[in-house]
Amino acid sequence: MTEYGTFPGARPRRLRTTPAMRRMVAETRLHPADLILPAFVREGISEPVGIGSMPGVVQHTRDTLKKAAVEALEAGVSGIMLFGVPEDEKKDALGTAGTDPDGILQVALRDVRAEVGDELIVMSDLCLDEFTDHGHCGVLDAEGRVDNDATLERYAEMAQVQADAGAHVVGPSGMMDGQVGVVRDALDTIGKEDVSILAYTAKYSSAFYGPFREAVGSSLTGDRKTYQQDPANVRESLRELALDLEEGADMVMVKPAGPYLDVLAKVAESVDVPVAAYQISGEYAMIEAAAERGWIERDRAIMETLLGIKRAGANMILTYWATEAARWLR
Ligand code: PBG
Repeated sequence: MTEYGTFPGARPRRLRTTPAMRRMVAETRLHPADLILPAFVREGISEPVGIGSMPGVVQHTRDTLKKAAVEALEAGVSGIMLFGVPEDEKKDALGTAGTDPDGILQVALRDVRAEVGDELIVMSDLCLDEFTDHGHCGVLDAEGRVDNDATLERYAEMAQVQADAGAHVVGPSGMMDGQVGVVRDALDTIGKEDVSILAYTAKYSSAFYGPFREAVGSSLTGDRKTYQQDPANVRESLRELALDLEEGADMVMVKPAGPYLDVLAKVAESVDVPVAAYQISGEYAMIEAAAERGWIERDRAIMETLLGIKRAGANMILTYWATEAARWLR
């Protein structure tokens, strides 16, 4: 090294001089195929309905959902994750609409599969909260607590109807103990051993799910703290990870993404399966809201968050900007 006050001995700035130089030395690259689009489909509507807290995102009709899937495919996105929003009067304590072969999610899975075949990976959220009148991710016991093992029976049935409807991948997101094993068994039992499981491994009890609850017309009062993880913990995620892998998870997910990049990095360095991260509704809403006020540069901010998530170790990113971002990347 040169002495203080003379020429610097090293000049990292040389590698930042031009766009071409910066492009060559970039350590992380985003690709459209890294992206998965989460999408909402609502029963009984004839026009898409906007979601106030998620400008640019809608509750789709069956028709516009098919179009959104095709657009995602054409943009190079690799998958779509479907969430069903049933009519209010179809919600009940057991979330029956979630296992009805003619329930909105199953109908939409069939629609989308018929449209995209095997070109786009079709995934389904495997959880009861959109279908229960109390809004919890499982069924309740006599005291009103979420009953883990009774819920597992519901998830097993849900996995089977979703696979029958054409899901390539199911995403158990309710954070019940043993959910991955039960879903794997249920799928194998009906000969659906090719349907894979994207396990929501580390799903935190987050304030950033707020806009999603509007998106699915959630009936929840209270919170999910007895099943979703405490934001204070990271070791707990590694335990959940070990259990999910043991139970047969094909891919694992960390959610939310932005506030949990440390968890994502730890999970990514300790597994040999693909790792996904879910940039959730609140992460989306924050950027859209700040950009709308002219406080940040929208497109750059979006790309920076996606790059950060990939840099932290995600192979796949679920983001409501998937189609738009994929187009920018082309
Ligand atoms: C559960 C589920 C939720 C999200 C995805 N799956 C809601 C929750 O746990 O309360 C949230 C996604 C988002 O906020 O974008 N079905």
